[in-house]
Amino acid sequence: MTKTAFLGLGHYVPSKVVTNDDLAQMFDTSDEWIQQRTGIKERRYIEESGIGPSDLAVPAVQMACKNAGIEVSDIDAIIFATLSPDFNFPGSGCFLGDKLGLPGVPALDVRNQCSGFLYGLQIADAWIKCGMYKRVALVGGEVHSTALDFSDEGRDVTVLFGDGAACAILGPIEEGNRGVIDVEVHADGSGAKDLWLEGPASAYKPRITHEMIDNKTVHPSMNGRHVFRWATSKMPEVSRSVLERNNVAIEDLDWVIPHQANKRINEFVAQKLEVAPEKVIHNIEKYGNTTAASIPLALSEAIQDGRVKEGDLVLLPTFGSGFTWGAALVRL
Ligand code: ACO
Repeated sequence: MTKTAFLGLGHYVPSKVVTNDDLAQMFDTSDEWIQQRTGIKERRYIEESGIGPSDLAVPAVQMACKNAGIEVSDIDAIIFATLSPDFNFPGSGCFLGDKLGLPGVPALDVRNQCSGFLYGLQIADAWIKCGMYKRVALVGGEVHSTALDFSDEGRDVTVLFGDGAACAILGPIEEGNRGVIDVEVHADGSGAKDLWLEGPASAYKPRITHEMIDNKTVHPSMNGRHVFRWATSKMPEVSRSVLERNNVAIEDLDWVIPHQANKRINEFVAQKLEVAPEKVIHNIEKYGNTTAASIPLALSEAIQDGRVKEGDLVLLPTFGSGFTWGAALVRL
């Protein structure tokens, strides 16, 4: 039976490092507060205006193709997961396809925030299993830094997020036990306004006003405690559901690579799942929360540094704005 294999991973982050102390120069916060509550030490921001998620994705895709042993021209479909598309329309996947020199290759944008990579994985898995495409570039890419509020009012959100991109090349595999075993995703829009970016909005006429800028509607806002409660409840719940359906015990897992929203959230989730802390991979201290890019970025780094190896059994749980959440079980 055809399964979907991770053929190669790649990632890219901009070179500009922004430490907690750098943020403390701009608004009332401290390295101690940020590290204690989130585990974040630094994050990356684009170096200058004009660099979008599709630009960050180009080197990530090139690296993933190299690691998969394919040419960029072999890609036959793009899925681009992002909550910060380069522009309102068209989607970042179209910009990326053009930058990679892939005219005619279909490009689908997925707008499911921190769960975007898993929603994209479920789609790519279905495409590949039914024989529609053979080399899917599944990208998570974000530029958050241009939307953040660098004042005391925005500090709860601003300290969390960073820019970056990562890509998985997915393709069919007919033999062996490697491949995507299961992906389960969910959404509950009753929490939509607990973590959102309200404007500019098609729901308003005009979509943007000076008042909206003055009221800070153009920056992301969050009910942090509510998000925290939901994330620490839904990530273990969906993880258990996927594991039980596939008769996999926690002890069978080689790694858990959760979405990197907040180290404290992931420590809670690991405790609830009773997974050994040394099996949980974190890189939030270096990059902050890169939403759709965070799981493939952590996976790509862990493969590059030799921790995660071919054949390892990996659980990928996530939770994000929407609310959306999910988990994937993959034999790499
Ligand atoms: N620096 C210093 N102080 C701050 C900061 C900051 N950056 N942000 C908030 N504070 C202050 C608050 O103003 C408040 O002060 P007060 O007591 O005088 O009113 C105090 O710190 C406590 O604020 P809380 O919001 O209650 O702090 P909490 O302990 O809940 O931690 C946090 C805030 C870290 C945001 C937490 O709620 C959290 O982790 N929530 C989940 C957020 C998250 O992970 N979001 C992204 C996930 S989904 C996705 O990835 C899209």
